Amino acid sequence: MLKLNLSKLNGFIPQDYLPARQEALAKAAAMLADHSGPGGDFTGWVALPRDYDKEEFARIQAAAKKIRKQSQVLLVIGIGGSYLGARAVIDLLCSPNYNLKKKDTPDIYFAGNGLSTDSLLELMELVGDRDFSVNIISKSGPTTEPAVAFRIFKNMLEERYGKEGARERIYATTDKARGALKGLADAEGYEEFVVPDDVGGRYSVLTAVGLLPIAVAGVDIQALMGGARQAMDELAQGGPDNPAWQYAAARHALYESGKRVEILACYEPAFRFFGEWWKQLYGESEGKQGKGLFPASVEFTADLHSMGQYIQQGERLMLETVVRFDKAHCAISIPDDPENVDGLNFLSGRSLAFVAEQALRGVTLAHVDGGVPNILLSAPARDEKSLGALIYFFEFACGLSGYLLGVNPFDQPGVEAYKNNMYALLGKPGYEEQKAVLEKRLES
Ligand code: PA5
Repeated sequence: MLKLNLSKLNGFIPQDYLPARQEALAKAAAMLADHSGPGGDFTGWVALPRDYDKEEFARIQAAAKKIRKQSQVLLVIGIGGSYLGARAVIDLLCSPNYNLKKKDTPDIYFAGNGLSTDSLLELMELVGDRDFSVNIISKSGPTTEPAVAFRIFKNMLEERYGKEGARERIYATTDKARGALKGLADAEGYEEFVVPDDVGGRYSVLTAVGLLPIAVAGVDIQALMGGARQAMDELAQGGPDNPAWQYAAARHALYESGKRVEILACYEPAFRFFGEWWKQLYGESEGKQGKGLFPASVEFTADLHSMGQYIQQGERLMLETVVRFDKAHCAISIPDDPENVDGLNFLSGRSLAFVAEQALRGVTLAHVDGGVPNILLSAPARDEKSLGALIYFFEFACGLSGYLLGVNPFDQPGVEAYKNNMYALLGKPGYEEQKAVLEKRLES
């Protein structure tokens, strides 16, 4: 379903970049399939589009229906892998202006993904006196940002609806057996959804983590899973025609040739949060042991007027991966102007999509001429099926890429390091010694 065009890598990497990595790719694919590679305990996402929990899926759909009925607002509280996927899908399939649109589904706000007092207060004001529900999402449970935001909105719910009423409006997505949130959800009797043990945060968008908020927005989650399933079946066929193998081999060869930054670009502003999701996926999976391409993202054509200069002529560290949707949602044509004062009549009657396509083609060649190799990934349309496939494609290619690089693509020791320092500095019981050491270092 997805198509890669790698012709604009010619001259940047040896022609045999794929055959040279075929054996390593076959090994990586086998490790993903049989869960035997580094971090294999976290490769449950590989077969998820086929093996997902169907009973829970039906509960997700029922809960989404209930939330749509009882609330004008859904607050999705989570950070990192516990919110980026849902936000990416809702932006791309509904709109980044989803909350401003006329619709029969609730507004959806994302909270607990930072520690800004101003933005939390603003969110409380935005909810105002409207009926709302909360989906608190944390695999581990005690992550500070969502835990703090949840306390605040839980209090707000309990003050407004009483403890019983609040219980009917809180949905907890967390580990099936462990963690602070699991304990709280059990004790309070919230409806619970599971982040499977073998699926890490950044690979969890196709579990309840992403699916519940996405379903509340009215997206067809069955079709989303269907697209992922199709990609899963297609990408399980190893070999040089496999687009995930091609993408992983190309970025690895480019990394070995000295490239250090991969820019993900798209000509759809609605793609912005997909870029954020992708950055977490690749940054957390590959960025370790002093290795990995730094993932960056840009929105074209807007960023051609800001980052375009650097991309064209700055340090030659970059490769560019462009995601393109073949079919636009609707057509707009450029009107004729009898006066032709702006000299644009050569475009009269042309669609805006045609103009965007010429921008993409021209930018590609300009960047290639400037020393930026280009990978073009085409998806049929901005719909559930294509997006399910894109998600799975990037996840699968990320697993392959991590193994080619020689890292464990499924851990995130760097994220844990900051979390632990923060717990210590905040005075969390059990971290007393670490707190003393850190305070001393900060004072010196
Ligand atoms: O990919 C990851 O595992 C992390 O980015 C987590 O998603 C993030 O730290 C949030 O963790 P949790 O869901 O445990 O609160």
